[in-house]
Amino acid sequence: MEIAIADATGAPVATVGSLVTRAVSAQQLNAAQDALFGLDWVPITLTEAVPAAHVVEHVSAEGSPVEAAHALTTEVLAKIQEWIATERAEKLVFVTRQGDLGASAVWGLVRAAQSEHPGRFALIETDGDLPDSVLASAEPQLRVRGGEVFVPRVARIAAGDSVVLEGPVLITGGTGGLGQVIARHLVAAHGVRDLVLVSRRGETPDWVADVDASVTVAACDVADRHAVANLLAGHRIRSIVHTAGVLDDGVIESLTPERLSNVLRPKVDAAWNLHELAGDVSAFVVYSSGAGIFGSSGQGNYAAGNTFLDALIEHRRAQSLPGVSLAWGAWAGTGMLSGADAERLAKSGMPPITSAEGVELFDAALSSGASLVLPLRLDLPVFRARGEVPAVLRGLVKVRSRRAAASSTSSSLVQKLAGRDDAGRLEALLDLVRAEVGAVLGHSGGETIDPSRAFQSLGFDSLTAVELRKPAWRGSTGLSCPRR
Ligand SMILES: NC(=O)c1ccc[n+]([C@@H]2O[C@H](COP(=O)([O-])OP(=O)(O)OC[C@H]3O[C@@H](n4cnc5c(N)ncnc54)[C@H](OP(=O)(O)O)[C@@H]3O)[C@@H](O)[C@H]2O)c1
Repeated sequence: MEIAIADATGAPVATVGSLVTRAVSAQQLNAAQDALFGLDWVPITLTEAVPAAHVVEHVSAEGSPVEAAHALTTEVLAKIQEWIATERAEKLVFVTRQGDLGASAVWGLVRAAQSEHPGRFALIETDGDLPDSVLASAEPQLRVRGGEVFVPRVARIAAGDSVVLEGPVLITGGTGGLGQVIARHLVAAHGVRDLVLVSRRGETPDWVADVDASVTVAACDVADRHAVANLLAGHRIRSIVHTAGVLDDGVIESLTPERLSNVLRPKVDAAWNLHELAGDVSAFVVYSSGAGIFGSSGQGNYAAGNTFLDALIEHRRAQSLPGVSLAWGAWAGTGMLSGADAERLAKSGMPPITSAEGVELFDAALSSGASLVLPLRLDLPVFRARGEVPAVLRGLVKVRSRRAAASSTSSSLVQKLAGRDDAGRLEALLDLVRAEVGAVLGHSGGETIDPSRAFQSLGFDSLTAVELRKPAWRGSTGLSCPRR
């Protein structure tokens, strides 16, 4: 095909000698439609016949939400670690109060503990009531409102009319992977002409020199209230995109108050500073993570910071202030996710999103009008094939119960073992264990697993050990160890 381009008077401007069209994958076309989710609280009727033995721990603290978030997560971490170390048989149920912003961080931490130690911990948020049926429930997370009980379920949401961010825009973490992507997108697609990018180091990215906008890059630790006050005094910021964040991954037994606090600072302290000091802004966007909703194994501290962000936005909305929390799935090719992580996530049912999909999802998420949006890809057939899904995904994937899946696995094992002699049984069991180990370590099968080698020398670390321990399905969250 040849194309001739002319101006308004008909004078030729350019010709295109040939044009090749190629198919765009359905995945690219449908990012906004297929990867946009919210979190619904769905009413349920509790029908547990056999109440589980449990111990209740009420979670609340005095002080500002920031002080409370640090103090409560430290306290709850100690309780979780003690519960695991002493191998208590009962379930430990953490109960928080509706609207307690500080306690919202505890939700992320406990969700990660639930993923790492299924069945040991439960979370309830209540407006005051605490019926016995709720305490006995097998649901890992519940909300009680006016005597009714609700469970969290991820559900699709739709994009709406497009929203354009008004400048000047402050992007915290604006020199990081995702911060830079969104900075350039705001200039190119939103027409923003005034950007302020901050990070603790404040290094200027190369592209800043060529971009069609005035870009200020500054060093500012946004967890430091005075630094934020000084920054805001120097710019008339109209929109905020808060992307600053750090990681310090480790299983729940390895976390310490310091490791919690370091990861909470750029999420909890910084977002609260911005909330209190930003004044009249037209947009307040925070970058949260699916790790908070799903409770990613090995990311208890990070999950805690992100559930605080989600709750802060709810708090702002309740005061009629603008705000949206984007609980992103993992991104590929930028930010801190490694190629190996991307591959593992794809296998677990959560393929990472590309930068092109990410900016499309940013716009779609803003247009949805929801206060909490989960822009992430879910490969639902992978969850379905596994035969079990985390509770939070049960609104999207209907599968057999975990008990049924486990019992079919065990009955097929019984069949395999029946009729074999001792040596044959040992061989069948060894094959099973090698296949499981191979799957966790990312091998194509169990044949390459040398049964005489120690676990550590096979390549296990604390996170993959958690995955192997899970009985009915691997990676209860489907986000078993994303580094983001
Ligand atoms: N990448 C993903 O796959 C993914 C997935 C889900 C959610 N997210 C969220 O998206 C956000 C950005 O992630 P990313 O992948 O772009 O990470 P990144 O490349 O590591 O960028 C993070 C940025 O935050 C800055 N920062 C950290 N602490 C700060 C502080 N106290 N004050 C000011 N700046 C600070 C860092 O710069 P300095 O070190 O110089 O301060 C860095 O520029 C994070 O909040 C993360 O939770 C990312």
